Amino acid sequence: MSNKFIFNEDINKIITKRKSVRTYNTEKIPDEILNKLNEYIKSLSGPFDEKVVFKILDSKEHINGAKLGTYGIIKGATKFIAAKIKEGEVALEELGYEMESLVLYATALGLGTCWIGGTFKKGQFAKAMEVESGEILPIISPIGYESENKSFVEKTMRRFSNCDHRKPWNKIFFFRDFSCPLTEHATLDGFKDALENVRLAPSALNKQPWRIVKHGDDFHFFISNDKEEAKEGYDINKIDLGIAMCHFDLTCKELGINGGFKVIDPKIEEVPKHYKYIITWIKEEQKR
Ligand SMILES: Cc1cc2nc3c(=O)[nH]c(=O)nc-3n(C[C@H](O)[C@H](O)[C@H](O)COP(=O)(O)O)c2cc1C
Repeated sequence: MSNKFIFNEDINKIITKRKSVRTYNTEKIPDEILNKLNEYIKSLSGPFDEKVVFKILDSKEHINGAKLGTYGIIKGATKFIAAKIKEGEVALEELGYEMESLVLYATALGLGTCWIGGTFKKGQFAKAMEVESGEILPIISPIGYESENKSFVEKTMRRFSNCDHRKPWNKIFFFRDFSCPLTEHATLDGFKDALENVRLAPSALNKQPWRIVKHGDDFHFFISNDKEEAKEGYDINKIDLGIAMCHFDLTCKELGINGGFKVIDPKIEEVPKHYKYIITWIKEEQKR
């Protein structure tokens, strides 16, 4: 359950600093930094009992003959983090949690990252990662140093895709049930930063599908899924939820608020049709 907190910077600052970086310069990542990332990978654990395999790959090395790369918007990157996992009930949430923990660690080390679920050469990465039947490799991220000269495509994309925008509190957080929206001005019992850090989390297409209902010191996590999405054979919203869980959990850990995730009956009446309950974060003294 525990994810040893070893960032050298305040979690709120790291989360605010992280932005998707799509254009990289030619500066090499020093071995010392790569070693730190590999050490962190070894120490990674998430809320579920699922094993995620991470590797840092270099596109110049042609591992297992693979020609790694992305197409479209990522420019200049030669190093990538790839993550594979065995298919399972909560595999994607676990991957989202652990990968985001790694992304935040990389951010604290001064590296740029960008979650990529769509536009990468899946077959080639699968070859390099030796993906077997029953395993999936849904996500990669380039890592490197941000270029000051953004490509025209990236600049245009940032301007029009609303990626700096986040939904307001009262659209994603609720008190007791979905009839009562929660705002940052409510009594939050020390959980304001944890919720704000969920709000700032990255998500695929910036859809921000997470919804949280606060009930005392229990926080029920839901996914809002207006379209049944299983385009690639998996539900990317589950990865987004894992990322949100990571932001919530790491913030609580840094604040010294003990607790953990558990599937319970949230006993909430009138849940909107397209909201799906996933899990509850429970403060330690109240664990059932
Ligand atoms: C699971 C996931 C998949 C993503 N896939 C892509 C992708 O394929 N291409 C891309 O350019 N950005 C991708 N993104 C990045 C999001 O567009 C980005 O996080 C969001 O717009 C918020 O912007 P920010 O990361 O700069 O805060 C993905 C993000 C997540 C969490």
